[in-house]
Amino acid sequence: MFARTAARTLAAPSSRLFSSSASRLTKVAVLGAGGGIGQPLSLLLKSDPLVTSLSLYDIRGAPGVAADVSHVDTGSEVTGYAADQLDQALEGVEVVVIPAGVPRKPGMTRDDLFNTNASIVRDLAASVARVSPEAHILVISNPVNSTVPIVAATLEKAGVFNPARVFGVTTLDVVRAARFLAGVSGVSPSETVVPVVGGHSGPTIVPLLSQTKYGKSIIGEVYDKLVHRIQYGGDEVVKAKDGAGSATLSMAYAGAKFANALLRGLNGEKGVITPTFVKSPLFADQGIDFFSSLVELGPNGVEKIHPIGELSAEEQKLLEACLPELKKNIEKGKAFVA
Ligand SMILES: NC(=O)c1ccc[n+]([C@@H]2O[C@H](COP(=O)([O-])OP(=O)(O)OC[C@H]3O[C@@H](n4cnc5c(N)ncnc54)[C@H](O)[C@@H]3O)[C@@H](O)[C@H]2O)c1
Repeated sequence: MFARTAARTLAAPSSRLFSSSASRLTKVAVLGAGGGIGQPLSLLLKSDPLVTSLSLYDIRGAPGVAADVSHVDTGSEVTGYAADQLDQALEGVEVVVIPAGVPRKPGMTRDDLFNTNASIVRDLAASVARVSPEAHILVISNPVNSTVPIVAATLEKAGVFNPARVFGVTTLDVVRAARFLAGVSGVSPSETVVPVVGGHSGPTIVPLLSQTKYGKSIIGEVYDKLVHRIQYGGDEVVKAKDGAGSATLSMAYAGAKFANALLRGLNGEKGVITPTFVKSPLFADQGIDFFSSLVELGPNGVEKIHPIGELSAEEQKLLEACLPELKKNIEKGKAFVA
């Protein structure tokens, strides 16, 4: 019952990128807007009718991206901010999306990015805490399993952490799972929406195929290959780009899709449920206090964190492999800010 409801809700927006409901004024900032993800993400947010004002910031190139994107004939206003204008960029912002930082090169894990991206994300979060402490923060910068705890700890230090407003964007794993399962099953991805839980890196990505109509009958080698592809799909892109970075276009799509889901929730739409990596009670008793599971989004951000539901024996094993790795990643993030 639970899985069916969730699947329906997740499937709803996938026939087109954006769904809209009664709109109100919403200012969204992109920090890292000049980058591989930031540019197409800014374009997609410009196309989202729920975004009324778009604030684009980067240490290089944001004014140019803003000038370009601002000519698109949708209602929102777009402003670009130069490296020394972060505070202005964050003024009055309700949603902050952060794709700032370096991406992977072939052979790198997401954790290899920690040394560079941890301080970038910490410093940006400190500015958000000071200028727009009520903003919802969507973290794309990797390693998400560590950067989300870094953002939370930074806000906590500033005395403004609200766990309902900090999200790790794991939507690309959900998008990949739907696309890859559709390929195996020969149906449309709108029929193969998969809850993906855990974290956002290799073994911490746990797709719950058994909770889906088409996924539950997949077994053996086909199952193993499908799970591996969902967990390591990012490596396909890193390898194919051959040193030029990681997923940017599909990530921009996923980031815009998650931002739209949050905005629909903030606007009061009911039943907006999607996986996202948040401060979560589900495995807190094992010292893992951030976890991605299906989360209902609403006027306050996180409204309800759903349990992971029933797992198959294979998924139980995947979860057992996920938890210790996730715990390590979370602790590393927290230690960085402590
Ligand atoms: N969550 C996910 O599923 C997912 C998927 C793909 C990539 N990523 C991550 O997203 C991040 C960005 O990837 P990309 O391909 O866009 O990289 P990129 O190098 O093309 O762009 C990053 C941008 O961040 C900017 N930047 C650096 N420091 C900054 C700062 N202090 N303030 C503002 N901007 C700053 C850079 O100038 C650059 O324009 C990487 O960490 C990557 O690993 C996450």
